[in-house]
Parts: sequence; structure tokens; C-alpha cells
Amino acid sequence: MENVVRESDPTNNVPDAIFSKLGLQLHRRDNHPIGILKNAIYDYFDESHGGKFVKFDDLCPIVDVKKNFDDVLVPDDHVSRSYNDTYYVDASTVLRCHTSAHQADLLRSGHTHFLVTGDVYRRDSIDSTHYPVFHQMEGVRVFSPDEWLASGVDATSYAAMDLKKTLEGLAQHLFGIFHKSDHCAVDMRWVDTYFPFTSPSFELEIYFQEKWMEVLGCGVTEQAILKRSGKIDNVAWAFGLGLERLAMVLFEIPDIRLFWSTDQRFTSQFSEGKLGAKFKPFSKFPPCYKDMSFWISDSFTENNLCEVVRGIAGDLVEEVSLIDNFTNKKGQTSHCYRIAYRSMERSLTDEEINQLQWNVRETVQNKLNVILR
Ligand code: PHE
Repeated sequence: MENVVRESDPTNNVPDAIFSKLGLQLHRRDNHPIGILKNAIYDYFDESHGGKFVKFDDLCPIVDVKKNFDDVLVPDDHVSRSYNDTYYVDASTVLRCHTSAHQADLLRSGHTHFLVTGDVYRRDSIDSTHYPVFHQMEGVRVFSPDEWLASGVDATSYAAMDLKKTLEGLAQHLFGIFHKSDHCAVDMRWVDTYFPFTSPSFELEIYFQEKWMEVLGCGVTEQAILKRSGKIDNVAWAFGLGLERLAMVLFEIPDIRLFWSTDQRFTSQFSEGKLGAKFKPFSKFPPCYKDMSFWISDSFTENNLCEVVRGIAGDLVEEVSLIDNFTNKKGQTSHCYRIAYRSMERSLTDEEINQLQWNVRETVQNKLNVILR
């Protein structure tokens, strides 16, 4: 836990805690909510498209920068390329930050209907719906001209319509199953957005825990991506779906850390093929809040702070939130962060939380170039 960043290689910002998640492949466990959901989505595509979608769930999460970014047209100056947002293994290799990293290769190999499921990695803030490792399912479908020519609408509109129809059908398949008696099962909405690899682009949001939560991004594939893979006369759609977030809604799982729990009281509640099981939380353990204030420097980022806290407290940290922020007359900026510690499995003692917080303060001071107040 001490080794927050592997300092031996300045281009490697993958902490041990993240490194140890490689290969766990929650999406390939049929009794785990992520695997159960993956299989249910497979069923939907098999039923609706007669088994045309080819499935990949074992592609290596360590990929070239080129695959992760260049191949899907992410501009050179896009924030997602920064060390602050992405885990670099070395200067030209990353832990994929999305399953879109495999789109271009699979198109080039001639696939026209495919689903790619895998673990993805992102540096981010800490709360109940964000975890630095999560799982996505990518879907891509390529159309040939005869498919849209007969429809009377242009290719892009045709693909966009088919995309929304397909994903709305998926939502119906997933949520319709066990909400039959429940009139307003889930509130969903489409939001227009931007991705470098699609145009137009949309997000689907679901209302959960009193907020709108993004569960998938999608759109009509940029022509440049298709052209490069030799598909000159085609149009395609693509989506990338966040499996944890969808599973949180489906199984009523209140916190994203639970997916990593090996506690029997969690794991025993799910079984293969059972999409409807509602998670029963074991008695809720009390949170403990600790505040810390410091003067920041120009290089300070919240993601770096969260990495330090996660490196020390592991899954005992539930949320890190900025509760105060001001700049004094001398131009120095102070941040006050509130850290919520809570175990999903047991009550924490004052002593261990104090020890964690003391460690966090010391490490933040040493590694983040801030001045504690
Ligand atoms: N890759 C995007 C993300 O991770 C999701 C996406 C996939 C959007 C495919 C459009 C098309 O946020």
C-alpha cells in the first residue's frame, strides 16, 4: 500500500492496488453481477439479431496509446490522454480507458457486428459510482448501403435511429423483466454529447440515488474510422456501456466498491442467469468523516489526491469531496476535503481510522506538494 506510484519509472503511474486488478475479469464470472449482466445483454443481442454479433471478452487490457486514442481519433490535446486521467504503463502503453480501444482493429479484421466486454481503467475522483477499474461493453454494427437505401432516410439518420431503437430495446429487455408490476421502473433520458469517434453522439442517463447517472455513450461512427478499415460505402453505430452502473440499478447495489467484495454475504446473493435478484445490504455500518485542509500548488489535482487516499485506505474510502475552496489576498488557494471512511463489511474502530487519516496527511504532504493547514 505504501507504494502509491512506482517511482522507478516516471512514465508509469499505475499503483500496485490497480495493477493487482489486472486479470480478475469480473465480467467472466457467471455468478457475479457483472457476468450475469453481460450474459443478459448477450441474450438480448442473440434474440434480436439472430446471433450475428461476435463476442469478445478476453482482449488484453494493456494496449498501445495508438489503439486507445489515435485509432479512435482522440485529438493530441484531449484531456483523456493526460497522466492525470489515464494509467500509463510506459510512454506508449496504457491500461485501456475504454473498450473503444478495440474498435478499429476489429473493423480492420472485417467484423461488422461485435460486442467487446472488458475491464477498463481511469484515474478519477472517489464516490459511490466511481472506481478506478470498471467494466464496459462496446457494441459496433456496420450497415451496407442496401440497408438504408430502401428506408428513404440518409445513412446517418438511419444508423442513429437503429442505434437508439436497439438500446431502448436493451433497456426494455433488462428492466422490463422484473419491473412488470412497477409502473415507473426507471427514469431514463437521452442527452446529446460529444465523442471524438462518433457524430452525432448521445448518452443515456438513468435516475439513481437522487442524481442523473450516465450509463452509456454512443453514436454514429466517424467516417474516418470506417474508411481506414477499408469500409468506404458503409455507415456504423457504436456504443460503450458501463456495466457496474447498470448493475447498480438492476440489482440495487448501493456502492460500486461492493463489486470487488469477496465477502460471502455479497457473493452468495447472486447466481447465474438471475437478473432479478435484489441485493440486501448487510446492516449498514456507520461512516466516519475526516476533514483536511491545505494550500495547493499549481500541480495539484483532485485525481492525484484520490489516488493517494485510495492507495492508503483501499476500499475503506467511500467518498472524497471538496467542501471548501478559497483564495487569500496573497493569491494562495486553500482546499478543504472531507474524506468519508466506511467499510461495507464491518465497523471501523476510531483507532484504525485515525491511523489511516494520519497516513493520508503525511503522504499527501510528501507527494502532492501541498502545505497542510
Ligand atoms: N468510449 C466511450 C466512453 O468510454 C463510450 C462510447 C463508445 C461512445 C462508443 C460512443 C461510441 O465514454
